[in-house]
Amino acid sequence: MELKDKIDIKTLPNHIAIIMDGNGRWAKKRGKIRIFGHKNGVTAVRETAEAAAELGIKYLTLYAFSTENWNRPKYEVNALMHLLVQTINKEIKTLHDNNIRLLAIGNLKSLPKNSYNELMEAINETSRHDRMAMVLALSYSSRWEIVNTTKIIAEKVKSNNISIDDIDQNMFSSFLTTSSIPDPELLIRTSGEYRISNFLLWQIAYSELYFTDKLWPDFRKEDLYEAIIDYQRRERRFGMISEQINK
Ligand code: IPE
Ligand code: IPE
Ligand code: MG
Repeated sequence: MELKDKIDIKTLPNHIAIIMDGNGRWAKKRGKIRIFGHKNGVTAVRETAEAAAELGIKYLTLYAFSTENWNRPKYEVNALMHLLVQTINKEIKTLHDNNIRLLAIGNLKSLPKNSYNELMEAINETSRHDRMAMVLALSYSSRWEIVNTTKIIAEKVKSNNISIDDIDQNMFSSFLTTSSIPDPELLIRTSGEYRISNFLLWQIAYSELYFTDKLWPDFRKEDLYEAIIDYQRRERRFGMISEQINK
């Protein structure tokens, strides 16, 4: 029996989010510069997106560049921004072929102009695709997002568009950059690090977390299947007790 056949299609996560980590170490192990790892990470993105779409996953969010990643050496930041444009150009076909819509979350205005324009063009071009949405988190961090949302709501209160009593979890979520995207059921992090690194802190309140030692450029379809199988073995209780879930 193949790994894929062990997946129960009826209880698939609707949304999987991934912290794609380990590109630098992958390159270093091969005696190459870090950028080589980032370039090879693109294959893993393609494989994962295809596997997710084939299974029937509706949302795949990929943490590609964090707010804190701006603090890396200038050379690496520039190379990553260049790679973003190159990858969008090259992989737009994969998106069309697989009927995948591209979305992005984060402080997108902080991206270099050509990266921003390229991204927006790809988002527009794929806006009618409806098999799966691939969400790129770019210049994203959760604390940035939460502060940003707070500012938006504060402005609306100040201009009397909403009253303080209207503010609840649903309203707050509706002003996050993920407002049109359901919370992920499953969060995967590669590279053997056990941390969240400022990713989707609000949205993962009840997500199942899955960690693998695989470095991101080595991540393949089978690795995604393994994570989903692991997820499907878990009991999600949302604060209740087992008997309530299984009644
Ligand atoms: C993840 O790989 C990609 C980005 C953060 C852009 P890293 O570049 O963090 O690789 P490691 O963690 O240093 O190996
Ligand atoms: C998290 O990886 C960000 C992305 C994968 C884009 P990092 O490599 O930046 O995280 P830390 O610094 O190890 O926590
Ligand atoms: Mg890293």
